[in-house]
Amino acid sequence: MSGHSRIRNEALRSKIMTAEEAAALIPSGSAIGMSGFTGSGYPKQVPLALAARIEAERAKGNPFRVKIWTGASTGPELDGALAKADGVEFRLPYNSDPVARDKINAGQMEYLDMHLSQVAPVAWQGFLGPLDVAVVEVTAIREDGTLVPSSSVGNNKTWLDRAEKIILEVNSWQSEALEGMHDIYYGTALPPNRVPIPIVRADDRIGSTTFHVDPARIVAIVETDTPDRNLPFSAPDEASQAIAGHLLEFFSHEVKKGRLPENLLPLQSGVGNIANAVLAGLVDAPFENMTAYTEVLQDGMLDLIDTGKLRVASCTAFSLSPEAAARLNANMEVYKNRIILRPQEISNHPEVIRRLGCLAMNGMIEADMYGNVNSTHIMGSRIQNGIGGSGDFARNAFISIFMSPSTAKDGKISAIVPHVSHVDHITQDVQVIVTEQGLADLRGLSPKQRARVIIENCAHPTYRPLLADYFARAQRSGSYGLQTPMLLDEALSWHHRFVQTGSMLPE
Ligand code: COA
Repeated sequence: MSGHSRIRNEALRSKIMTAEEAAALIPSGSAIGMSGFTGSGYPKQVPLALAARIEAERAKGNPFRVKIWTGASTGPELDGALAKADGVEFRLPYNSDPVARDKINAGQMEYLDMHLSQVAPVAWQGFLGPLDVAVVEVTAIREDGTLVPSSSVGNNKTWLDRAEKIILEVNSWQSEALEGMHDIYYGTALPPNRVPIPIVRADDRIGSTTFHVDPARIVAIVETDTPDRNLPFSAPDEASQAIAGHLLEFFSHEVKKGRLPENLLPLQSGVGNIANAVLAGLVDAPFENMTAYTEVLQDGMLDLIDTGKLRVASCTAFSLSPEAAARLNANMEVYKNRIILRPQEISNHPEVIRRLGCLAMNGMIEADMYGNVNSTHIMGSRIQNGIGGSGDFARNAFISIFMSPSTAKDGKISAIVPHVSHVDHITQDVQVIVTEQGLADLRGLSPKQRARVIIENCAHPTYRPLLADYFARAQRSGSYGLQTPMLLDEALSWHHRFVQTGSMLPE
């Protein structure tokens, strides 16, 4: 950090200050656009200083709360600290922080869960109101004043374009060799002026490697040297390995049938351990020269790049273990030719996902026997994380796949239920469901045909007869029609039983 070597624009050095001084520039009630996506590239000192200020103001009897918009999830120094200080009145568009989650579920924080590709356009449409401050982590400030993005891009371009005031954190922990990896597209517009996004291959570059900002709006620059929230992935357990096995067999079958090319189609892999296990399985699978057009890049994808099996990965953020982050930082020059980081508006763009024909693989909370998927709410009302990019990809993918172990909470919950307690992905957007029990290929099937395959292939043996019984009775009686048979008084009874007794199983 010595000599401010990361801040190469002389004039902007006059804006360097402490995190506390920068936080003091943020008034109560502000809408703040922060950087950060799945634990990478989020500001690490200003939010902490803001949380301390909020607590100090409250002690003096001055209520102080802000609205926080980000790319996706961040880290304990941001979501955790601000939630603990009770400083967030409104949050969008995705959260995985446990403290913030508890506040949301206690009704103490308003939360808007959005498709991640839609945040930037909705901000431009003006529906979110004015953006008062942007707090954005960058890797460096170049001589010409342009900004080298950090380990995630998220909505930063939009926050920097729209905010009245800009506070930058320049983080020396980020590898300087990140410069050149990003592709910041400056061609988006609102209707009627929208033009096609000119990406026809996962590795097409269509923008600039840096952010362009008006220096007059930069009010503070804070220097940091702090790692991202890089958490280890758990080693793939038996269930994730079985899920990966079913999926890889399915891909091989699709290649044999001529429905997928030998190098597959661009992969999209969701968050979490199961998605990572599937990527680990691909290391030993017979597919070469693969590509990824995805939202986050996890350890498994880095491994695939290392083995030479993955030619290129386009994403908006890293989501790595500490070991993988160290490997990335040490070899950034090599990875730079294989990885492109884009704004989330582009990494998750429905038009591009549809054109490229992504293979979308996402986790879920539960699916019902007709193929509707719940990715976000436990027992219908308790938010887990948010829809993230799963909707962007599921609706537009070439094949949309959802995966989960067939049970949760030591078998007390079935992930395959008569009716989902919350719907994120309607049955038309769900083509394949995989559990450790097996895979249901739902393409071309009617609701009743889907139900038979899902119950037979995906449900846990303990719950399979219960589902079959419900399905049989729904077809015989009680239903108002036989297109999608349903027993209205029973459809959510499994969830109700869990809430009452701690298990979905009948006594
Ligand atoms: N009913 C109740 N709880 C359930 C459940 C179910 N059917 N299935 C899982 N859970 C609970 C787990 O027990 C766990 O609870 P805990 O934190 O108390 O241990 C929690 O939900 C998370 O489950 P886990 O098995 O760790 O799943 P995961 O890490 O694979 O995440 C999602 C699964 C659905 C939460 C995750 O994939 C997600 O947030 N998806 C939405 C966003 C998304 O898809 N983004 C990618 C798009 S690019």
